[in-house]
Amino acid sequence: MTQSIDHPEEYFRKLIYPRDELLLKLEAEAGREHIPIVGPVVGELLYILAKVTGAGQILELGTATGYSSIFLARGCQAVNGKVITLENDLVMAERAKGNIRAAGVEKSVEVVLVDALAAIAEMSRRFDLVFIDIEKDDYIRALPHIYRLLRPGGLLVADNVSYKGADSFNRAIFADPRWRSVNLYAFLPQHSPEKDALCLAVRL
Ligand SMILES: C[S@@+](CC[C@H](N)C(=O)[O-])C[C@H]1O[C@@H](n2cnc3c(N)ncnc32)[C@H](O)[C@@H]1O
Repeated sequence: MTQSIDHPEEYFRKLIYPRDELLLKLEAEAGREHIPIVGPVVGELLYILAKVTGAGQILELGTATGYSSIFLARGCQAVNGKVITLENDLVMAERAKGNIRAAGVEKSVEVVLVDALAAIAEMSRRFDLVFIDIEKDDYIRALPHIYRLLRPGGLLVADNVSYKGADSFNRAIFADPRWRSVNLYAFLPQHSPEKDALCLAVRL
């Protein structure tokens, strides 16, 4: 059978794992308050990527309420990994800390109230995986620092790269032979927005 499934969006919406009460609460809050979280499909992707890469040191740029941080933390639990997540909004950082505690992953996640661009310019430790989800215009400014902070073979995941603000980042990483990248433009249920692209890139 080479025919496509009828109504693929409805169909794939039903193939999402059930989430625990906390994640469902964060999804409902995000819907009500227009907080642009990654949603359960990209959350699961982050969990899987962290797990299959065996990432022990993870850096996240853009925490919001901690929804994606919880998936990353669960993905690196088997290797006793650590997630450092950077957020510049005090209220969001405090909410994230509470949610991360409620998820029981507070020992593996550090929420840092800081401007991510300023912070990464000062950092020198190495990471296995970086997830970027801040202002899209800033991706291009973050890219050289992410390159420096990722170990060779490390993975960069960039959200929302179908936004116009990510254009310069998209072109730069594509043209840079020190990276190998792929853009996945997809239907992503409950992601903000549901039709968007993610960039997955390995630092060579
Ligand atoms: C798209 S939301 C993050 C959503 C989160 N990754 C999730 O899926 O659960 C972006 C967050 O990044 C924060 N942010 C934007 N620019 C930032 C910067 N330069 N430094 C730190 N945080 C920033 C915003 O305050 C916002 O909470």
